[in-house]
Amino acid sequence: MLQVGDEAVCFWAVFLLGVLVTRSASAASLLAAFLYVFVAMFRFPPVPPDQAARVLRPRAAAGRVPVLANRGGSHDAPENTLAAIREASRNGATGVELDLSFTADGVPVLMHDETLDRTTNGSGPVNKIAFVQLRRLDAGLRHRLRDKYVGERVPTLQEAVEECLRHQLTIVFDVKGQPDEVAPPAAALRQTYRKFPALYNCSMVASFEPKVVYKMRQTDPGMVTALKHRPWRLSRLSDGAPRTLSAWARMWTAVLDVLLDWAHHHLLWRLCGSVGPVCPEGLRLTVGGLTSV
Ligand SMILES: *[C@@H]1O[C@H](CO)[C@@H](O)[C@H](O)[C@H]1NC(C)=O
Ligand SMILES: *[C@@H]1O[C@H](CO)[C@@H](O)[C@H](O)[C@H]1NC(C)=O
Repeated sequence: MLQVGDEAVCFWAVFLLGVLVTRSASAASLLAAFLYVFVAMFRFPPVPPDQAARVLRPRAAAGRVPVLANRGGSHDAPENTLAAIREASRNGATGVELDLSFTADGVPVLMHDETLDRTTNGSGPVNKIAFVQLRRLDAGLRHRLRDKYVGERVPTLQEAVEECLRHQLTIVFDVKGQPDEVAPPAAALRQTYRKFPALYNCSMVASFEPKVVYKMRQTDPGMVTALKHRPWRLSRLSDGAPRTLSAWARMWTAVLDVLLDWAHHHLLWRLCGSVGPVCPEGLRLTVGGLTSV
């Protein structure tokens, strides 16, 4: 939970950094004041704590620990398919994490990668294929249990939502920073939330990109959102190996990583309307009033 002191420390840090860089107390004060006014003007209020609690602690009455199946439980069924959602529910998950993507004609579908190659028998970028063509592909062919999941298709966002609601699963929509031209993710999700208002109580939109989270709340302040964060994301891959960059670029991205880390913990979540904690797996939840997740 945000303490008043936290906020003061944040702006003191900016002030001190400003003094170090500019060697001028007035310039540093101006910088801190500017940042304060900027955050105060453009921040979103967090969603009500009880709404956040319904999303974060589903079925709390039953005393169950929330369990999320990543990509719908990709070990037991082809990832991001309706079969995966059903299997996750059967295996006792209370929720699923699903990856939102868009076809060339702007249909919201579930797909983790930017390309079709790893999970389907198609190839090339997802956003270059028309929906009718995508639908002809097999989404189960590359899974270790392919014989059990013959004919599994890439589902639309709506089909996935309906399946989750049927099984009373919480949903974490993972949204990447796709360009907005074809289909803005915020608009697609708002439409889906309007169609299925139960989602306000049982789902959240998560992204590594602060601008995606900000845009979501701008489009629909009623959504519960989460700002995901992985330390050293710009300079290292998810397995910790350094990205293949020149020595110079590696140094720069490391510096940017430190700044991004600081911004995530002190600034960005305030802007997006969070008073929540960072969860163990690194979700900075833009929700209210919770001390643990
Ligand atoms: C992928 O598999 C499906 C189902 O077996 C088949 O109908 C389709 O033609 C295949 N597509 C390609 C590009 O191989
Ligand atoms: C969310 O849950 C609360 C409490 O059960 C209920 O009052 C509210 O109507 C629900 N909202 C939606 C959109 O279903």
